[in-house]
Amino acid sequence: SRVVVLLSGTGSLCAALLAAADDPGYPAEVVAVGSDRAGAAGLAHARERGIDTFVQVLGEHPDRAAWDRALAEELTARRPDWVVSAGFMKLLGPAVLSAFPGRVLNTHPALLPAFPGAHAVRDALAAGVTTTGATVHLVDAGLDTGPVLAQRPVPVLPDDDEARLHERIKTVERELLVQTLGDLVVAGLPPTATTTTEESPR
Ligand code: GRF
Repeated sequence: SRVVVLLSGTGSLCAALLAAADDPGYPAEVVAVGSDRAGAAGLAHARERGIDTFVQVLGEHPDRAAWDRALAEELTARRPDWVVSAGFMKLLGPAVLSAFPGRVLNTHPALLPAFPGAHAVRDALAAGVTTTGATVHLVDAGLDTGPVLAQRPVPVLPDDDEARLHERIKTVERELLVQTLGDLVVAGLPPTATTTTEESPR
């Protein structure tokens, strides 16, 4: 299966997928890595590995809808079977979501529906929870609201700060993402996870 990864920053989750895909036994290959930020370190890592990359900066488009269309075109050109948002810090719009219905995954550093949004780790710390976690879900039009595919708990330790807790979560996210994507490409979407945009097979 052909996978395109979208990222905005370090790209350690993308790096984990690339490492997993090095194993010929892994059922997916990352055919391209895209970003909304030209300087994203994850892009440089992909380029070093000879992986195709692309950038679509929101501010270089007249509006969000134009950016969404440009991103959809970049993705469509790579013919992905799956699109994986791994630390991509923008909401994917209708052009992208309608181009790949039920085929866009996201990984989130909390046990959704708890702590959605861009500050999940900070919010979990502030809430004083003793357990948070990682979630891989299908992306729908909402913010971190699509059907959950897999979750794994991560303990919060008394002297955790955001960075330490986030790193602990990311080690789990990496494993969860590699495993969940691997299972998906082999077995397809679990029947419970079809989104409203994709009729479940009769
Ligand atoms: C991950 O925790 C992801 O869930 C969140 O941002 C982090 C990205 O990390 N949205 P990296 O860029 O893959 O290192």
